[in-house]
Amino acid sequence: MLRVLLIFGALCGCIHALDNGLARTPPMGWLAWERFRCNIDCKNDPKNCISEQLFMEMADRMVEDGYLDAGYEYINIDDCWSSKQRDSQGRLQADPDRFPSGIKALADYVHKRGLKLGIYGDYGNLTCGGYPGSLGHLEVDANTFAEWGVDMFKMDGCYADPKTMKKGYPEMTKYLNQTGRPILFSCSWPDYERASGIEVDYKLVAENCNIWRNYDDIQDSWQSVLGIVDYYAKEQDTLAAVQGPGSFNDPDMIIVGDFGLSYEQAKAQIAMWTIFAAPMLMSNDLRTIRPEFRELLLNKEVININQDSSGHFGKRVLQVTPSIQAFVRQTDGPCWPTVFLNRGSGGNPTNITVSFSDLGLPIHSVEGFDVLDLFTGAYSGYLTPDASYSYSVPPSGVVMVKIGTAE
Ligand code: GLA
Repeated sequence: MLRVLLIFGALCGCIHALDNGLARTPPMGWLAWERFRCNIDCKNDPKNCISEQLFMEMADRMVEDGYLDAGYEYINIDDCWSSKQRDSQGRLQADPDRFPSGIKALADYVHKRGLKLGIYGDYGNLTCGGYPGSLGHLEVDANTFAEWGVDMFKMDGCYADPKTMKKGYPEMTKYLNQTGRPILFSCSWPDYERASGIEVDYKLVAENCNIWRNYDDIQDSWQSVLGIVDYYAKEQDTLAAVQGPGSFNDPDMIIVGDFGLSYEQAKAQIAMWTIFAAPMLMSNDLRTIRPEFRELLLNKEVININQDSSGHFGKRVLQVTPSIQAFVRQTDGPCWPTVFLNRGSGGNPTNITVSFSDLGLPIHSVEGFDVLDLFTGAYSGYLTPDASYSYSVPPSGVVMVKIGTAE
């Protein structure tokens, strides 16, 4: 076995998070984009177009099918919700045909059910989908969202000069704070800087944003999930150093329950997003999702780890075989969530045997370990600190365990 990286390297104890009291743990909820895109054809596709009906139906499902109880609380509008014109006072307005009751009424609807509402805008002249952007209107837009009762704002960066974002995004932070309404700020800024070769100042990002995108949009495929995981692992030291309560890296939406991922791949996405302590913003159709995917999304043990109060970003610590990598995360307690990710597509599961010391666990300061498989419930019982343990890792899938201390 080849040890690629030593785990718990210097975790910077000096995270300067945006201090609006929000996102103390990774935000959980639902976001329209990956699954519903910019479908505005309500005439021919009334069930799936971007309309108030869609968000109301998802809100109902979130409450009635157990997602809210499990912690998923934000229901987020993405692009293509607005009218192509601002109103006579220069304010954004919802498309009157698709959102006839307006955003405030939708916010009331979701608040009544114990949920929160997120909305989308763009720092540039236009949103990525070609709707009005906020450039020159930052303050009025922040005030409008606050008046409507919006709880999260994702500010995208299309049709903007990435060189101006280090100044522009913090301006929006200021305007959001000035509204006096707690609005979770989701920034796409670092991704646009990265894509145009500008060095990202993550300290500044974390001071101004609650969550931030740093890499390509997720698509409905395993390849896309792996691409994001690879980028996160490559940049893990940088990303870990700025993450903590109030400020989280955002590898993009959870696509579990859509068309592209198998059951094992779906487990893998949830497991990896939990290792990274990433936001859990599902983009799927909760009205038709298959029960086995719903169950995965509601797995309590996994959610507890994702929501651990430390917010620590887990790291790739070991290349176990050419196709299997191990990722380990710290939590607040003496417990190390660990994922073995198999990128291979060989037909049968691969058996691996890994010692606790290979995983970088503190073998000299504990009396022993125990291992709980979070998806099967299998339990190891007491194991000595110098022991090895075996795992059977399915192709393009994971084993996810919680390694705890035991006597
Ligand atoms: C960009 C963002 C996506 C989504 C679309 C909307 O691509 O990264 O998450 O918001 O714009 O047009």
